[in-house]
Amino acid sequence: SAVEQAKRLAAVQAVSEHFSTNFKYVGIGSGSTVKYVVEAIAASLAKAFPAASTRPSDTRSTSATSAYDIQFVPTGYQSRQSILDCGLTPLLFDHLPNDVILDVAFDGADEVDDDLNCIKGGGACLFQEKLVIEKAKKFVCVADYRKAQSRLLTVWPSIPIEVAPIASHIVLMALENLGSVKPAVRAGVPAKSGPLRTDQAFYIIDAPFPTLLLRSDIQGPDDGNGKNGRWEVSRLSEAIKNITGVLEVGIFSGYDGYETEKLGLGKGGQKP
Ligand code: A5P
Repeated sequence: SAVEQAKRLAAVQAVSEHFSTNFKYVGIGSGSTVKYVVEAIAASLAKAFPAASTRPSDTRSTSATSAYDIQFVPTGYQSRQSILDCGLTPLLFDHLPNDVILDVAFDGADEVDDDLNCIKGGGACLFQEKLVIEKAKKFVCVADYRKAQSRLLTVWPSIPIEVAPIASHIVLMALENLGSVKPAVRAGVPAKSGPLRTDQAFYIIDAPFPTLLLRSDIQGPDDGNGKNGRWEVSRLSEAIKNITGVLEVGIFSGYDGYETEKLGLGKGGQKP
């Protein structure tokens, strides 16, 4: 389909511009677009090292075990599976040496705005993705044409939020107080099996909000706040994160420009 073709093209371009066979550690996000990224990386390695044979393995050590001296840090079960399927070596996030910074992290998004803020978590992964992205020198967001909107929540309907199951009711109430209309715990598949569980065995709440303002729309420190008003992207994200019971919010912002430097992450937030 045209969409699959667009995902593949975006992935191939992202890899050709932002992947190097000299890298040591590469973050791999979740979702259907990232699968194409992993395939493109495997193809680029096969081309660069035609004689090398990979030995896929689920290493818990810090040493490379494939013929390629690159370790791929997954962001969840499916992400790890795609790394293995392509004959590459996964290294779990909590087995990374402390002093290691990933050369790059590739990940998809559900919607991306003009300031490169993203909504993520449509596929129920977001917490590990944020961990991995924040450990990387550069975040390359790979997204097809449908997802580029000047403001978040233009087409994508809600913000995915990962919450502790025991707190889900109070988090729903707190979200309504912030102006979300009908936030809901995401059902599992099949729905009769109960709420969906994340890789952390948490729940996802999908919280609809009005379309979000961009940072650059904000004139003064008091704008963009209010129960039924429109929120500025990072302020809403912070307000949600402050609710007790929330593990992580599916708004990824501040990975470009000055905020990125402030976090000491180097250059990031690049979109192919
Ligand atoms: C996973 O929960 C998300 O953050 C994904 O990165 C996002 O949903 C994009 O997935 P697709 O590439 O499948 O659209």
